[in-house]
Amino acid sequence: MNVNEIIKQMTLEEKVKLLTGRGRWKFNGIPRLGIRDFVCSDGPHGLRAFENFDGESNIQPATLFPCAAAMASTWNLDLIKKVGRTIGEECNHYKVDVLLAPGVNGKRNPLAGRNFEYYSEDPYLTGKIASSYIKGVQSVGVGTSLKHFILNEQETGRRYVSSKCDKRTLREIYALPFEMAIKEAKPMTIMCSYNRIDGVYASESKDVLTKLLRRKLKYKGVVISDWGAVQNKFNSINNGLDIEMPEPRHHEDVIKAVKDGIISEKKIDKRVRYILKMYQKLLSNRRHGKPTDFEKNHLVAQKVAREAIVLLKNENVLPLYKGENVGFIGELLIEPRINGGGSSSLKPYRIEKPLEELSEYGDYKHAIGYKGDEIDEELVNDALEVARTSSKVILFVGTTSKIESEGFDRKNMDLPLNQQHLLEKVLEVNDNVVLVNSSGSPINLAPYIDRLKGVVQTWFLGQANAKALIEVLFGKTNPSGKLSETWPLHYDNVITSRTFPEKYEEAKYTEGLYTGYRYFDSFKIPVLFPFGFGLSYTEFEYSNLRLSKKELTNGETLTVSVDVTNVGKIRGQEVVQVYVKDKECHFDVCEKYLKGFAKVTLKPKETKTVTITLDESAFSMFVEEFDKFMVESGEFEILIGKNVSEIVLKDTIYFDSKDEITKPLTIKHPVMMWLRRPNEKAAVERFLSENDRKLSWWGYEDPLIKVVTRMLRNEGFKDDQIDEEIRKYFRDFM
Ligand code: BGC
Repeated sequence: MNVNEIIKQMTLEEKVKLLTGRGRWKFNGIPRLGIRDFVCSDGPHGLRAFENFDGESNIQPATLFPCAAAMASTWNLDLIKKVGRTIGEECNHYKVDVLLAPGVNGKRNPLAGRNFEYYSEDPYLTGKIASSYIKGVQSVGVGTSLKHFILNEQETGRRYVSSKCDKRTLREIYALPFEMAIKEAKPMTIMCSYNRIDGVYASESKDVLTKLLRRKLKYKGVVISDWGAVQNKFNSINNGLDIEMPEPRHHEDVIKAVKDGIISEKKIDKRVRYILKMYQKLLSNRRHGKPTDFEKNHLVAQKVAREAIVLLKNENVLPLYKGENVGFIGELLIEPRINGGGSSSLKPYRIEKPLEELSEYGDYKHAIGYKGDEIDEELVNDALEVARTSSKVILFVGTTSKIESEGFDRKNMDLPLNQQHLLEKVLEVNDNVVLVNSSGSPINLAPYIDRLKGVVQTWFLGQANAKALIEVLFGKTNPSGKLSETWPLHYDNVITSRTFPEKYEEAKYTEGLYTGYRYFDSFKIPVLFPFGFGLSYTEFEYSNLRLSKKELTNGETLTVSVDVTNVGKIRGQEVVQVYVKDKECHFDVCEKYLKGFAKVTLKPKETKTVTITLDESAFSMFVEEFDKFMVESGEFEILIGKNVSEIVLKDTIYFDSKDEITKPLTIKHPVMMWLRRPNEKAAVERFLSENDRKLSWWGYEDPLIKVVTRMLRNEGFKDDQIDEEIRKYFRDFM
């Protein structure tokens, strides 16, 4: 297929048709030229397949994997690549060309409705997991749609709210996962978000789609809209959107606009070229239509479930042993919550049930304790009977679809009232309670945590939820999941707790860089469970940290090696986490940042050397005045952590940077630049306050010397006095 040749043969009508979907789940082909339609479908946790994608009829079974938050908790990049590949194979099975996944939006607040569908509060972890997932899907010829670009972190007012975020935060936190995935995995499409950014819809923003996505992040694939996100088709075409989804709309208007000269045909051709290049790739997919083995795929989902479960607390209650006097309580034993609600919903191929799995381990007392949302005292009493007569209780709780789903934000972090009621009652009669929680994001455990002996976080664990969970409870699987987001002690401790969700026009990202652990860690705010935390049934010891060099410069890499030993009695997996701390910096920096990690499996007494390579990006920050990532010379600490709050080894390197950022400012630089650097800003402020003067906004872009001279002249100073005054205040910067 020759793209330029095809464009030459296409009529304007055919070109314009390519710029919108066909029905809900198709991209238009060009039948006259023998190019078929292409099918797309959700989503991040598996494929939503239909027998007929035109009519959405007869939903077909597919593998439902653990949700994105759970996938990220595995910290296992090879495994996530396998997930991607497996979902890709299912796409081929059902002849789906593009999967509408993964989602890499941030987590500004634990109440955000789609947190379960996103990976992590940390952009580096998100970027790595997303890249592996995309590589997996695309390795079998299927395209992905990295979503939702960008600043789409709340469900409240999601179709109109306007996000406002400073440029550095945008690039270091919210655009970074997109940037990493574009570079590492080249997603075939990117989906723009519903919301506005600085008042302009993402679907029609030149700043977002052209300047940021195409120019800065160097994206070369197709940009599609979220479903129904296009407001003004002309603006979308002109400013960088390729395909409007879903239904065909505006065809006639666009054709007329081209004929009237409002949109140039060249612009249309530009969009068509991106689309045809993707079609070219999709048509070369030799596996399209190849059947897959759903039983085998179930085992992949099971493996992810095993590694995603996070053991959060264990005071000698777990693992259980067979035949122990344990009571199991909770409706979720029978009907597990395996996915969040919304566009990631699908028809699971089969669903494992905890109670059925449990029967493999023996005959255990059980009761459901609650049903739906209501408090049912009869059910509570049955459960208490089990609790009273058991030496340990495993209590299954979790958020319901009315509490946590796409489409709305949670009201609070609490468990449903009927479950809280049951939990309180059970705690009154049994001292050995282990809570097994299914939720897509943190819940409020503060009122119970001291009385609970164990806590197991399962997330929404997908169709293969039960075997993995029961294995973890009985010690057949040693848990290895680590939190991909902080569990706050109290909701009030969350930096955005007073403003989230913004109910009106604007969502202001005033917390800036201080999101997730970057906030708790920098300001020493106590948390319930820190980022990166997760227990095991064995213990690991770290030793012998080695750095390949003590000094490095731009373009070089640093190799970090550390020995990890399993000092316990059973096999286990550990996630080695490398954090970097900028020791001295002219700019505002958080306490430390995750910059590398690796998961390692160790037999008892075994030691392995784990090696992680850091490149320049591990030391860089986005500098607004230069509009790029740069490194400032200075010392950096390389920290090895079991989690963000538990650093076990550290060393220091010196980065001798060639970046201009290290050059001092002079009074010939614009005022704006001075105000962005702490020392320089202080000098300007001292001058202003000592002279009782104010800067007027129109002078910000002028060189400081000009502004100060103008001020002093207005005050009647002579030129030689002005010179002296300037020297007095800005001597260090002359
Ligand atoms: C969601 C997308 C999804 C699309 C198609 C939208 O409402 O925001 O994530 O891919 O629907 O189902």
